[in-house]
Amino acid sequence: MRTLELRDGIVRMIDQRRLPQELVYVEIRDYPTVARSIKEMWVRGAPAIGAAGGFGLALAAMASHATTREDFVRDLEHAGQDLYETRPTAVNLGWAIQRILKKVRASNLPVKDLRDLVVAEAQQIAEEDIATNEKMARFGAALIQDGDTIIHHCNTGPLATVDVGTALGCIIEAHRQGKKIHVLVDETRPRLQGARLTAWELMQYGVPMTLIADNAGGHYLYRGLATKVFFGADRVASNGDVANKIGSYKLAVVAHENNVPVYSVMPTTTIDMTLASGREIPIEERGADEVTTIEGVRFAPQGVRVGNPAFDVTPNKYLTAIVTERGVVYPPFQENLQRVMDPVEG
Ligand code: MRU
Repeated sequence: MRTLELRDGIVRMIDQRRLPQELVYVEIRDYPTVARSIKEMWVRGAPAIGAAGGFGLALAAMASHATTREDFVRDLEHAGQDLYETRPTAVNLGWAIQRILKKVRASNLPVKDLRDLVVAEAQQIAEEDIATNEKMARFGAALIQDGDTIIHHCNTGPLATVDVGTALGCIIEAHRQGKKIHVLVDETRPRLQGARLTAWELMQYGVPMTLIADNAGGHYLYRGLATKVFFGADRVASNGDVANKIGSYKLAVVAHENNVPVYSVMPTTTIDMTLASGREIPIEERGADEVTTIEGVRFAPQGVRVGNPAFDVTPNKYLTAIVTERGVVYPPFQENLQRVMDPVEG
């Protein structure tokens, strides 16, 4: 079961807004609706929105009436810009769009074949995501021991990717290997990705888990009731600072204070070597209703002022290691991330 796919000219994706109440797919036939699905978080999670961006471009390519290369490239660039502007933090979205545009610009094929080229590249991005996540899951699972109790933040499971997941993929793999583990799933306010999605996924896989309020993490860490923290990443700067779902920073600091290791898991496509530190990562600010309401029920006073940053940055000093599909990266991150990225960058 894939989170999203492109088949017969239609993008099918799980509507994550409706989980865990119901598992339904939506069918999308045009790229503006793909853009809307990313913005409104029918699909979410850094690698999944990267794949969605690629599929959006594929729909734009199929719909383009261009008869010249120049017009075709212009149509694609226009669609790419609309898709890119939906969510600013996860670098995978811009990465996928740029990868496809670069491929098109470098090709000498006639327009009719360029359409197929775009579709093939978008499919390739989605396939690679699964293979990458499987590798990461094995590296990450090796860090998990029998008896571990792991605090997990947000949703980083199959739903956050095309399939398999990132941090949760490692946890599910450790369980699959027969390790006796327990997961403390934090709810992840304001959108409750932990309570709604991660809890649902772990229950599907039969991984022992307990749902906890976001604010309970410190209690479990202080009492020695949690042995590891795992989360994903939406963008990693070249020095190893990690932008991830809001609340990751607080969790990492408290874990560090209690000598509990913190692991951030992401494909190398989430690492942005152009940024010197996490201070340069754009942080998405989302609507007030996410904070003032839960499931449409308002509990905050009318007219209250709201801040809703969707992500925060965990400075590298709080991370024990970064897990990628190319292996586990330890400090010093600046140096070691460069080494891991070199085969691609060079
Ligand atoms: O706002 P979301 O739900 O898209 O945020 C998702 C996260 O922060 C994940 O932890 C992140 O994308 C990495 S895991 C795939």
